[in-house]
Amino acid sequence: SHLSTTTKPRVVICRNLGPDVMPLLEGRSDVEVVVWPEDSSCDRKWLLEQVRGAAGVLLMFPEKADKALFEAAGPSLRVVSTMSVGYGAQFRPPIKLSQRSTRSTEHIDLTELTNRGVKLGYTPDVLTDAVADITVMLALMASRNAGSTINLVQSGEWPKFRWAPFAFCGPQISTLPSSPDRTVGFLGFGRISQATLKRLIPFGITSCLYTANPHSPPATDRDTAILSHHPTLKTLRRVTADELARSSDIVFVLAPGGESTKHLVDEAFLRKMKKHSVLVNASRGTLVDSDALAKALSEGWIWGAGLDVVEGEPNITLDHPLVKEPRCVILPHIGSASIETRIDMATLALNNLLAGVFGEELPAELKI
Ligand code: DGY
Repeated sequence: SHLSTTTKPRVVICRNLGPDVMPLLEGRSDVEVVVWPEDSSCDRKWLLEQVRGAAGVLLMFPEKADKALFEAAGPSLRVVSTMSVGYGAQFRPPIKLSQRSTRSTEHIDLTELTNRGVKLGYTPDVLTDAVADITVMLALMASRNAGSTINLVQSGEWPKFRWAPFAFCGPQISTLPSSPDRTVGFLGFGRISQATLKRLIPFGITSCLYTANPHSPPATDRDTAILSHHPTLKTLRRVTADELARSSDIVFVLAPGGESTKHLVDEAFLRKMKKHSVLVNASRGTLVDSDALAKALSEGWIWGAGLDVVEGEPNITLDHPLVKEPRCVILPHIGSASIETRIDMATLALNNLLAGVFGEELPAELKI
């Protein structure tokens, strides 16, 4: 309309992105910027009001880009930029949107987005190393009783504790000459899994199994390249979830969220795992059935668990069955929370937003 030629595009940013990133917007006279003024989750009502007539919105996973948001924004909306790598994975190709009836359990409704021709920016790659770091940390913490031992110190109980030969012992991740070779298993073998494997090979891990989306073709060339890059790694094989559960000393859950991966780790899976094995989840809480995991830990089907994500987060309180499990180490979804990575994620999210608003190619667009 004649109005739009005189009005600057408006962008809504759901969080203050901090002193390293916000200055990128200073002095830009070509866009009107609205930023949630507080240092907390953006208020839903505020967002739905501000987004009216906006050209772009930058949000993160606590905010929902659902039907109501798209309706509130209206036809002016060109881009949604999420400061996360996660989105709504059940709608991923090659599953056609029209064949899916399930509703998104992730924060972006990809059906609405696609139907309205809105672009989606996300932040892959920049967080891979930070998440792989914390994934290894969780494996170590869960194996070596970090949860209960830190608790002992924090609650002032250390003076009562008498050092004993086998107190607080757990399985060792690094391989000793006397111990059998270790096998790690990855549910999902994307960027973060591969970066995690790379970190584990120097620990003496010689065997790696993984599962992949059943629709994806074999990645033989990639696997050959990984093997030739890491001469001490003897095995790298795509297997069934069943074989992975039975054979792995550590199982890493690093697949996208959404309906298609919901409760991939359920009671049946956990019952197949080794007694001294550890489960690590640094992807989305929905992949693991919390009740089944609590049962597996309390009945000793597996050794321990390290979780950066829990189904139903952040409403995880002291009465949650997993919080009560001494062998379960839980972090409050901080996988990508290094200073450097968050600056990179915020910068990329902002650049995606601005590119989308001006019809340019997004630095990182999810091609649906
Ligand atoms: C991601 O980037 O997906 C993280 O889990 C934060 O949402």
